[in-house]
Amino acid sequence: MHQRNRQIAFAKRPEGIPDASAFVQREAAMPTIGDGELLCRTLVLSIDPYLRLKMHDRRSYTPPLRIGELISGRGVAEVVESRDPGYRVGDIVVISGGWQDFAAIKSSNAKRIEPGTSLGAWLGPLGTTGATAYVGLLEIGKPRAGETLVVSGAAGAVGSLVGQIGKIFGCRVVGIAGSEEKCRTVLEEFGFDACVSYRDRDFGEQLRQVCKDGCGVYFDNVGGSVSFEVAKHFNDFARIVVCGLISQYSGQQPTHPTALDEYLRLILMRRLTVRGFIVSDIAADYPAFESDMRRWLEEGRIRFKEHAYRGFDNIVPAFLGMLAGENTGKTLVYVAEQVAAHSRNPPA
Ligand SMILES: NC(=O)c1ccc[n+]([C@@H]2O[C@H](COP(=O)([O-])OP(=O)(O)OC[C@H]3O[C@@H](n4cnc5c(N)ncnc54)[C@H](OP(=O)(O)O)[C@@H]3O)[C@@H](O)[C@H]2O)c1
Repeated sequence: MHQRNRQIAFAKRPEGIPDASAFVQREAAMPTIGDGELLCRTLVLSIDPYLRLKMHDRRSYTPPLRIGELISGRGVAEVVESRDPGYRVGDIVVISGGWQDFAAIKSSNAKRIEPGTSLGAWLGPLGTTGATAYVGLLEIGKPRAGETLVVSGAAGAVGSLVGQIGKIFGCRVVGIAGSEEKCRTVLEEFGFDACVSYRDRDFGEQLRQVCKDGCGVYFDNVGGSVSFEVAKHFNDFARIVVCGLISQYSGQQPTHPTALDEYLRLILMRRLTVRGFIVSDIAADYPAFESDMRRWLEEGRIRFKEHAYRGFDNIVPAFLGMLAGENTGKTLVYVAEQVAAHSRNPPA
């Protein structure tokens, strides 16, 4: 095991769509730990769009990154040193350790995961991504059997899960994704009822064809002109789950200058419920999430697809690729192999 601690830090605030110059790789001293802490070696990193929001110097739900700061992020890691008797070397944990090889973490901020489940799943359906899909859809979307649920970003990590949960609740599920190939996956692997590509010139007409009964729930991951088109189909009393606006994260202007006025008109005329949410605010209200999701995975009712990269040097390309729509499913980077395996029985 090498003892270098490679890190990726924030180098400069990008204008528009970021490139690799926003990041810098450096080597830092190996972290040391005190009582109640764990030294963790990163195995798998979750690559998430909210990082683009943190690159702006403006008020958000999460503080802006400072220049020179380690890039934050969740991951699955292996405990390589423990100063908490409840944890052993070789335990596998989910942590927010950032983009680095090794992190010192308070054990109270680590979640030990059980053997037997794929590591990536703890960053996908069983992790924050899955919780976002589950709580956003159930708390705000309130899906009812027979209703049409429209999901943007349908081939992505959150969107692919939202549609599958919608099917479990009896919805007719329409996806919107960035290519015909992605739409095929959304239909064939994720089991949506219909999927249209927003890049097709006749996207609006295709959407009209698949929303003949309107839209009762819209789970929005992208915002912008895609959502403007979906809004034309909102039924009376539709619920709009504002989960993400990735089409706007790099500072793009809304395509339609009157979009906000039109949206407000629809909110009143169609008596819509529109609510934004951040998963960390409401996930604790849904203790059944993990057991429901595990059961659905075991029963094959939820399928999980990884878009995996390998190696530390591919962390930045994975993030840039995800913003550009390279991924189908959850973007992950496998940084290192697990080495210090033990029996995985929790300590007595
Ligand atoms: N509210 C919360 O607590 C919370 C938590 C997690 C994630 N989110 C949000 O949920 C959304 C999805 O996150 P994720 O992790 O599942 O990412 P993801 O969907 O797996 O990956 C991002 C996808 O966004 C699409 N995209 C990029 N630029 C776009 C554009 N201009 N217009 C339309 N689509 C575009 C791309 O797919 P295409 O090829 O289809 O364009 C890309 O694959 C993001 O907006 C994220 O910020 C919110």
